[in-house]
Amino acid sequence: MADDFIFRREPLERFIAAVVAAGGSEPREAELVAGNLVLANLMGHDSHGIGMVPRYVDALLEGGLKANRHLEVKLDAGAMLTLDGRMGYGQVVGVEAMELAIPRARQHGSCVMVLGNAHHLGRIGHWAEMAVREGLISIHFVNVISHARVAPYAGADARFGTNPVTVGIPLPGEPPLMLDFATSAVAQGKMRVAYNKGEKVAAGLLIDDHGNPTNDPRYVVVPPWGALLTTGAHKGYGLSVVCELLGGALSGGGTWHYEDHSRMRVYNGMFAVLVDPARLGTAETFAHETRAYLDWLRRCPPAPGFDKVRIAGEPEREWRAKREKEGIPVDATTWKEILDAGAKLKLDRGVIQRLAEAK
Ligand SMILES: NC(=O)c1ccc[n+]([C@@H]2O[C@H](COP(=O)([O-])OP(=O)(O)OC[C@H]3O[C@@H](n4cnc5c(N)ncnc54)[C@H](O)[C@@H]3O)[C@@H](O)[C@H]2O)c1
Repeated sequence: MADDFIFRREPLERFIAAVVAAGGSEPREAELVAGNLVLANLMGHDSHGIGMVPRYVDALLEGGLKANRHLEVKLDAGAMLTLDGRMGYGQVVGVEAMELAIPRARQHGSCVMVLGNAHHLGRIGHWAEMAVREGLISIHFVNVISHARVAPYAGADARFGTNPVTVGIPLPGEPPLMLDFATSAVAQGKMRVAYNKGEKVAAGLLIDDHGNPTNDPRYVVVPPWGALLTTGAHKGYGLSVVCELLGGALSGGGTWHYEDHSRMRVYNGMFAVLVDPARLGTAETFAHETRAYLDWLRRCPPAPGFDKVRIAGEPEREWRAKREKEGIPVDATTWKEILDAGAKLKLDRGVIQRLAEAK
């Protein structure tokens, strides 16, 4: 099915902010949520863009997501921070957490920050980018408390979420390296996008409700439940367990280890390490070696069927340039779900209509 609508960034942000505000959020919260989600779409990650709004609205109505909640500092030991998101919007408590950790890393050379009980933190690259903009390396392991959707290596049903790993590295004279991926073979949201578009997906990503391979995304969108596989077989599985142990257990937010099919909320626990590369005494070598190494990588001839070798972060920058210019495509199913979510919050139909027409 073709994408049905093309939006410019600003009207889409205004529209999403209006839906979030209808859920009781203060204007700044509504803007942060809308800005974060639309940016994910701009960067090509529709799975973590505005399509999340219906889930947020359901979570809000069920009480698992709390509007206008701010971070609680559980422990502040200088370069070690233990933070609790108190079930607030990840787009708000995530900003607050990074705004605390960044100056600490500047002051001490590094900072270890854990954040538990944040509602969905969206694209984890968003948080690494905040630190990278300040010249810091930012490493993140994140667990997901929502519904188990990913099977462990050698397992026939789901035991954990899509637990993302992210590393941002500022590169002297270059755009940063931004490695940011789910440890599942593919992000679950991408399966929702494919399901909404009526598409099948590539082989090797999913198992059905009997543990057999399938390319039908329905098995991770609607019952009967199958599971996503991990990326890189046992290696992605290992990383995912690290995300549970550091992002979940060590953050204080908790791990996924129970059956719970009833609730719409998505909590993330995050373990983050921020490092000031200028403080290790290797700045000159770092600058020289990164330039030499990236040049070496880029001179690698492309394999058949590929145009060039890219560095992590480049695809998102390419998407962003394209979508800033051409607009953001939104499929009809996703759009309808967002309108329905707005209606659940009694968002005025006239507002919906005017904002939709502004696309
Ligand atoms: N909050 C949550 O609970 C949660 C859970 C899972 C994933 N996520 C987010 O979902 C987003 C998407 O994850 P994903 O696994 O679908 O991403 P993906 O499979 O598109 O991989 C993205 C990473 O691979 C790099 N990349 C892509 N193509 C490349 C190429 N040709 N050459 C070099 N590098 C390349 C990108 O720059 C990026 O670093 C991420 O932002 C992640 O943080 C969030």
